[in-house]
Amino acid sequence: MIPEPADMTARRLHGRLLIDPDQPAEPGWIDVADGRIVDMGSDTAGTNPTPDRVGEHDVICPAFVDAHLHLPQFESIGHDGRPLLAWLDDVIFPAEAAWADRAVATERCHAALVRLRRAGTFTFAGYLTAHPHSIDAFVAANARVGLRATVGQVLMDRAAPDPLLGHPIRPLDPPDDPRLRLSVNPRFAVSCSDDCLQAAARLAASGAIIQTHLAESAAECAKVRALFPEDREYAAVYDRHRLLTPRTLLAHAVHLDDAAWSLLAARRCVVVHCPTANTFLGSGLFDRDAACRHGIRLALGSDVAAGPDVAMPRVARAMIEVAKCRAMAGAPDVDVPSPAAAWRLITSGNADALGLPDAGRLAVGATADLLVLRTPFAPDADLASRLLYGWDDGFIVSRMIAGRMAPE
Ligand code: GUN
Ligand code: ZN
Repeated sequence: MIPEPADMTARRLHGRLLIDPDQPAEPGWIDVADGRIVDMGSDTAGTNPTPDRVGEHDVICPAFVDAHLHLPQFESIGHDGRPLLAWLDDVIFPAEAAWADRAVATERCHAALVRLRRAGTFTFAGYLTAHPHSIDAFVAANARVGLRATVGQVLMDRAAPDPLLGHPIRPLDPPDDPRLRLSVNPRFAVSCSDDCLQAAARLAASGAIIQTHLAESAAECAKVRALFPEDREYAAVYDRHRLLTPRTLLAHAVHLDDAAWSLLAARRCVVVHCPTANTFLGSGLFDRDAACRHGIRLALGSDVAAGPDVAMPRVARAMIEVAKCRAMAGAPDVDVPSPAAAWRLITSGNADALGLPDAGRLAVGATADLLVLRTPFAPDADLASRLLYGWDDGFIVSRMIAGRMAPE
């Protein structure tokens, strides 16, 4: 990013503050300095024009947090017609193999980060590729964008084309960028042998975040049963390798029995619900009620490119729609999350699940990753609902990333 003089970065923003999505957004102000929110107040007088005054109805809200995505897949959105395993073989593995060229990887990674910035997602957890240099590509690309990321080299040693296999595992050297954390990303049990899962566990012993996929499709689960006949079920494979921890993000979890839910609850893992991806690949309808009954920590992910939507309000809306579909199809006692709860999940909820309590909220001390929204409707009591169902990235008229105004 272009550096600004120090005295240009401290500023006051005025607008309607969406602090709690259950409450109306009231006029107020936010003081930002050194990349953080340093003070906030309500704007009862509401008349003093300042250089940063936004429109009367403009809403200031925290930027979105995405708990699961794949940076090398942004150019592969929308190849419909295949279930998970065929889609990986036909569409995704060739796309990821193209990152073998470091310059291509850097350029495509930059394009994905710009797309996230445009959609208002400034914090995320995600996957790179199996290439060790995919980490360097990310660092180079994000130096120009500045998002807050938890990303890892994809660990995999079978069931994929040769160019994606046999790569050395990069150690988790602490990055220079304070907004970057390196995670441990064993792809999923189908493409990881016991040796690979063991190497992942060794790498994660330092306390890093672990990201993987679990029980996304029925065919995948059948394959895992055949590959690991000694284990009771899918989650038990990861548990045997000590990969189920409070820092583990498990994407999907669509096909789990009660004992598996209990295991995930006992290990305090985070389950990342990916509703748009589950629908796109026809993987299944996530049982959010089972997760809630077991007290599972839940997050929400776009899972681009299985999920076709980059914008997190679209993913939040899909979570509500999947719950409504389950209820309409006769599932008993379905809890349909409210739009406000869904909005909270794509901001502070996901941040908490990623272990980032200073992200995804308007609060003193929080990182100043902010959006200014201008909507065609007044910000009334149903604001979260109107935003989710009518979402358009064009609502975002300003972006502040770590306290600096950012381009679209
Ligand atoms: N399971 C293993 N790899 C992937 C992936 O890239 N996307 C999705 N949706 N599921 C996976
Ligand atoms: Zn995924």
